Amino acid sequence: MDFGRRRWFCLAALTCVAQLGACKKLGGDAAPSGSSAGASAATQGVVIGHYASMTGNTAHFGQDTDKAVHLAVDEANAAGGVLGKPVKVVTLDDRGDSAEAASAVTRLIDVEHVNALIGEVASSLSLAGGRIAQRRGIPMISPSSTNPKVTQVGDYIFRVCFIDPFQGKVMATFARNTLKLDEVAILRDVKNDYSIGLADTFKASFAALGGKISLEQSYSAGDTDFSAQVTAVKGTKAQAIYVPGYYSEVGAIARTAKRLGLKVPLLGGDGWDAPELFSIGGDALDGSYFSNHFAADGASPKGKQFMAAFKTKYGQEPTGLGMLGYDAAAVLLDAVKRAGTTNPKAVRDALAQTKGFEGVTGKITMDKDRNPEKSAVILKIQGGKAVYEATVQP
Ligand code: PHE
Repeated sequence: MDFGRRRWFCLAALTCVAQLGACKKLGGDAAPSGSSAGASAATQGVVIGHYASMTGNTAHFGQDTDKAVHLAVDEANAAGGVLGKPVKVVTLDDRGDSAEAASAVTRLIDVEHVNALIGEVASSLSLAGGRIAQRRGIPMISPSSTNPKVTQVGDYIFRVCFIDPFQGKVMATFARNTLKLDEVAILRDVKNDYSIGLADTFKASFAALGGKISLEQSYSAGDTDFSAQVTAVKGTKAQAIYVPGYYSEVGAIARTAKRLGLKVPLLGGDGWDAPELFSIGGDALDGSYFSNHFAADGASPKGKQFMAAFKTKYGQEPTGLGMLGYDAAAVLLDAVKRAGTTNPKAVRDALAQTKGFEGVTGKITMDKDRNPEKSAVILKIQGGKAVYEATVQP
């Protein structure tokens, strides 16, 4: 390799945030010649494209994941790179929008010549980006999209998290058997594949356990007024509301419920995982529960080590997004090493053979559908914090 060590550290630190087609590179000196857009992958080392919601309503998802991806790549570079080459990440902001996600993936493939893709968090966006990755034969690994349809897009699409048929059942079983609830209402985001799918699996599982769904209501991402839905739930005997949405709307729904005097807890899934849930929802969420990928207080030694490194580098704790972002990057780099090449087909084949990989979120083995089997945790919200309640094995 003709890269000086210092030189390729700069390369690795390059981050590209696309805004209306203008590509802004952050965090590095001027790019050495040969690394500019359009250069072939061969001259750039291992190039990973990350498409993420760096801004917008779900900015926490993209930002936490991107920090973790960079941490994994920095560690790999500090250890000599992968296949003796530097690893570079190019991040494009999709602003939490499906059309932007599709164009970010196209650009990462056509302009940045990435060898593989990491993304997205939101299932709807992974579906949009994944269709392009599949068509173009570039392997993609989603850190945290849980809707089953994501990896069904095709054999180039992988993930490092559990899927929603499991997650929905975990919360339904907890609600029915541990909280002993008989009736629950459901409030879903009808613009969000994740929310629609998770509401369906919760509903089926809760009913199979003899529970009753009192009422189903809907909203759309970006809504700010939830008083009609909360008032409708107030007119039923629901003992909880299942809200499998993202943190911004969930926080606002909790506040509306409190303001209108509805005293039942909310139940939810991994989409709640952001510090902003608490800044938006305040104490209105006390006594609510959600399922998630990891609990800070229940992390493994490897998980704790990552959390400490993240805190040192960024001055804040990672959420489950960061944990999974790190594992997505680590699994991908491990596959490139095993493949012995950045050839997309060979990397795809190596990803499919991932077995017993020790991640910071647990052991990762890809099943034949390119999904790993992972345990889930249930967290209880108390005093503006998520506290570990239980672990559920698949
Ligand atoms: N699982 C969510 C989805 O598929 C995304 C998410 C994962 C959000 C983890 C927060 C934490 O859309």
